[in-house]
Amino acid sequence: MRVVILKNAEEVSRRAAEIIAGLVKRRPTAVLGLATGSTPLATYGQLIELHRSGQLSFAGVTTFNLDEYVGLPPSHPQSYNFFMHNHLFRHVDISSDRCHVPSGLADNYYEYGRQYEQAIQNAGGIDLQLLGIGSDGHIAFNEPGSSLASRTRLKALTEETRRDNSRFFDSLDEVPKLAVTMGVGTILEARHILLLATGANKAGAVRSFVEGPVTSQITASALQLHPWVTVILDEPAADWLERRQYYVEVEAAQRELETKNQRYYPVTFGTKD
Ligand code: PGA
Repeated sequence: MRVVILKNAEEVSRRAAEIIAGLVKRRPTAVLGLATGSTPLATYGQLIELHRSGQLSFAGVTTFNLDEYVGLPPSHPQSYNFFMHNHLFRHVDISSDRCHVPSGLADNYYEYGRQYEQAIQNAGGIDLQLLGIGSDGHIAFNEPGSSLASRTRLKALTEETRRDNSRFFDSLDEVPKLAVTMGVGTILEARHILLLATGANKAGAVRSFVEGPVTSQITASALQLHPWVTVILDEPAADWLERRQYYVEVEAAQRELETKNQRYYPVTFGTKD
């Protein structure tokens, strides 16, 4: 796991956008796994800016979102379909038939999950999966106790997640109780995983998944089993890490190596390679 600690949320979004843009420039037909929530918003803003200034095209890109609330139609302002359209898709030159956000209105979620997984396979698998993390350590809506081998399926949301997300709804009662979500097993198949966390309310979850045991109680901890994960944190989110100083030293050594064109990771953070 490459743990990168930056000063603030703005630097996190810049670095994340640099990594995503770097991939799309190297591979214009890249398959991106996308996330919703407050954390990736500024990153999407940066990507839109790069597109507007003529530096980045999404014309060949395919996307798959992690999850959706069950019961919300795409026209609902709190649906993740709506979120993606509003905060990214409508601002860039991506083709709408290549944007996949799970449906909150499927009849048979067992079958729907299977089809969503198949669509990911048909697209060649996910090159880069963007993730946030819940304060309960979830990735996508894989709540504590989710199988670390799980696939796209229905999941009941915890009270903590519903409370965290109630800030976007008029009341807690309006927050759906079920979601459809990629599984932990689905996420682990992405070639590169980029997890962003900002703010002090994520410090506990960050420490648990980076330094704690691999456990279904903190589903993000399964990322320890993946060979290429980049975790980008702002200082408040990194505050509880016991080995914080070590990660800073590793990162400095890594940047030094990159200047000599040697690399441990498959690609550097730059957009030139
Ligand atoms: P947030 O959500 O980015 O709004 O904090 C992250 C998550 O729940 O995965």
